[in-house]
Amino acid sequence: MQKSFNNNFLWGGAVAAHQLEGAYDKDGKGLSIADFMTLGNKDQPRKITKTIESDKYYPNHVGNDFYHHYKEDVKLMSDMGFKAFRTSIAWTRIFPNGDEQTPNEAGLKFYDNLFDELLKYNIQPVVTLSHFEMPIHLVNKYGGWSNRKVIDFFVRFAHVCFERYHSKVKYWMTFNEINNQTNYQSTLSVYENSGIKFKPNDDRQKLMYQAAHYELVASAEAVQIGHAIDPSLQIGCMLAFCPIYPNSSKPEDVLFAQRAMDTRLYFGDVHVNGHYPNFLLSYFQKKQYDMDITKNDLQILENGTVDYVAFSYYMSFSVKYTDHMDYREYQDLVPNPNIKTNDWGWAIDPVGLRYSLNWMTSRWHKPLFIVENGVGAYDELTPDLKVHDTYRIEYLRNHIREMKKAVVEDEVDLIGYLPWGCIDLVSASTGEMKKRYGFIYVDADDYGNGSYKRYPKDSFYWYKNVIATNGNEI
Ligand code: BG6
Repeated sequence: MQKSFNNNFLWGGAVAAHQLEGAYDKDGKGLSIADFMTLGNKDQPRKITKTIESDKYYPNHVGNDFYHHYKEDVKLMSDMGFKAFRTSIAWTRIFPNGDEQTPNEAGLKFYDNLFDELLKYNIQPVVTLSHFEMPIHLVNKYGGWSNRKVIDFFVRFAHVCFERYHSKVKYWMTFNEINNQTNYQSTLSVYENSGIKFKPNDDRQKLMYQAAHYELVASAEAVQIGHAIDPSLQIGCMLAFCPIYPNSSKPEDVLFAQRAMDTRLYFGDVHVNGHYPNFLLSYFQKKQYDMDITKNDLQILENGTVDYVAFSYYMSFSVKYTDHMDYREYQDLVPNPNIKTNDWGWAIDPVGLRYSLNWMTSRWHKPLFIVENGVGAYDELTPDLKVHDTYRIEYLRNHIREMKKAVVEDEVDLIGYLPWGCIDLVSASTGEMKKRYGFIYVDADDYGNGSYKRYPKDSFYWYKNVIATNGNEI
């Protein structure tokens, strides 16, 4: 039995370009979908505006100003002992509108500089190609991923990135949390994943399945191109993994929970197996969805399967069977009385992480990579410039313990652990800065006021020791 983590286990952290870079219109960057999302909060959803309105605040325009602080931030990550750092490449820095033929050199240069800075400290960059930040031009002109043409634009973007950075970046992911849009009633989720703005009579579910199909094809094409450019590249998919438990041991609840998992995770089946699961094909027929899925698409899916499965893990869900087997995320979830939640209502379930690692291993038999995990919490900077975030340490400690059991006792093949928002950044769901995840505090409030100075929190020193001991001291 393996006693601990391998010596090459990738400890580190994760972020996404639009949530921290800021500089939203600098050096030729185009506007992305995130640039049109206002500040919200846990009770007030973020608004998606058509234009940038002067009386509204758009937190992603500033992020945590990483664009101007990245050297200092990378140094802090190196002080923590990071072996890997996950970020995304903002599509609009490379192709400002998305449909150009030639990339923007200034954008490419920024990521060269960032990756070089990471490599200087022996930190491996881990890169997501599309993380909720497609060019707004592709939304306005083409309808986002509801349009097949977007496949070619994405593939061109992916090609340029692989070509340019393959000697600096080994681990890639195509689409962040591609399966979040399972909740197709959520305007925000489908906009972030697919750049689709629903009209009143749209069949949201069908549009979502169609857009996801184009993304899956684009991903499979990208995988093939990446491997052709450099066979040593590891190109994965990225799923939001929330295990879905039955509310009781009633067989109907158990069966429904299984169907809910299958519905939420078929994206992974297609990425890994290269084809759709039967239950879904039969569901499309039952719904009489005349999906645009060509023979050529099916061939591309078959030939472009992923090397590993990356995922985020924050929480688990529970469902109760009522009268249908058609899982609808917006109405079928029920609270789980066995589990506490954080201040934003997200269930805290460390054991669910071990369950998830085992579930995916049994289903997909691929190396796994935890590329997000963590707890959003209110932090307080004390007068002596400290943050005593014991709650964050407790959350991460409990999750790392379960992860360790999965690796050591269950022999799950796990590449690394990159907790989310290792430095405070803008929340994707609410746009708040005060929903903080970081080991590093950034002095900025929800409206962009503050010095933007960086301060290590107590969790910084704790995590540094976890890494230094390769997970032996948690
Ligand atoms: C994931 C996303 O959904 O969760 C991140 O990939 C996001 O972009 C993270 O920030 C945490 O969610 P939130 O809404 O608290 O920022």
